[in-house]
Amino acid sequence: MDNQQIMAVGSQYLMNTYARFPLALVRGRGSRVWDADGNEYVDMVAGIAVCALGHAHPALVRALEEQAHRLWHCSNLYWIKPQVELAARLCRHSGLARAFFANSGAEANEAAIKLVRKYWHLKGRPACDIVVFRNSFHGRTLAALSATGQEKYQQGFAPLVPGFAFAEFNDLESVEKAVGPHTGAVMVEPVQGEGGVRPADPAFMRGLADLCRRQGLLLVLDEVQTGMGRTGKMFAFQNFGVEPDVVTLAKGLGGGFPVGAMLARGEVAEAFAPGDHASTFGGNPLACAVACEVVDQVASYDVCFNVTEASFYLRGLLEDIARRRSDVVEVRGMGLLLGVEFTREVKPLVERCRQHGLLVIGAGERVLRMVPALTIGRDDIDAAVAILKRALDEWGQQ
Ligand SMILES: Cc1ncc(COP(=O)(O)O)c(C=O)c1O
Repeated sequence: MDNQQIMAVGSQYLMNTYARFPLALVRGRGSRVWDADGNEYVDMVAGIAVCALGHAHPALVRALEEQAHRLWHCSNLYWIKPQVELAARLCRHSGLARAFFANSGAEANEAAIKLVRKYWHLKGRPACDIVVFRNSFHGRTLAALSATGQEKYQQGFAPLVPGFAFAEFNDLESVEKAVGPHTGAVMVEPVQGEGGVRPADPAFMRGLADLCRRQGLLLVLDEVQTGMGRTGKMFAFQNFGVEPDVVTLAKGLGGGFPVGAMLARGEVAEAFAPGDHASTFGGNPLACAVACEVVDQVASYDVCFNVTEASFYLRGLLEDIARRRSDVVEVRGMGLLLGVEFTREVKPLVERCRQHGLLVIGAGERVLRMVPALTIGRDDIDAAVAILKRALDEWGQQ
């Protein structure tokens, strides 16, 4: 089937929930992908920060194949060796004590929200609130959506889940105001990804951690997008020198295989007892075998070093472009989660890039986002930037 045929069948049988680009990707290798018509693209999207090691990484293919020959699924009625091994790895790297596995970022956040509520329930403070942030994004399940600080995602889905108080990102005073007698936790992204690639100020993040410690609140970090090496460290919080109580992960963790995780400090994790939370597929052997390999690769010096190097290089090129244009507000981000804010909507630019063989995405209306594989090399970055420049020339200046 070619692009047109796939789109025709998809338009007939799939629910209309995604505004898709008019192509179907059928093959990938490293930071390159091909569509069903054989067109090649430089992939600066990587499945929206998911394909951490690029497409078809040989070590991940091997891990998946080996596990596929052993055991696909058995349920959490039994101990699962790759799940145990993944939990041990994540705890060792994060300094947290225990893991719960889910299948997506939203589910990992649901687990975190439930854990916070159960923790305070056991401490005699039932129905606690969680302080969350305007412009945040935590996922599409109802509680995660209710915690998300962007009305556009919530419209049409009332009633939302109660128990969330909103504060301004990077504004400690507004957090202090939002904290009340029923507050149990603060939940925050170290870099607001979907909200426009906005990194937390280091002073804000440290201030938040101090505030949580002083007031006895739990600090929950949504590292669904920033975790697994994306910022040049295994976890983004390691750049800020803070110690969270709960961390959620998904996206890069499986390198393209669906898996989410929620990690917690010992005393907090112990709030969950058998029967409190569960997922049929959570911690599935295939997902965990692949994720173990992802963690080992990201923990290797090479991958995180490449993120730092590639980020520096790409950012430099983007800043060069920004200096020559009057419609760029700012280049920002951390590691390989980079955004270029323009003075106008970037949708037409994204489309032009695609037409010339470059995949990029927006983050909000005016931010062009790049979240390539953590393993991307200079050749692919150069190719991407050359196409971006061409698309920008055609797009013109304002
Ligand atoms: C910070 C953050 N949290 C949660 C989610 C939701 O993850 P998922 O789409 O896997 O449910 C996302 C997805 O973009 C995210 O960026």
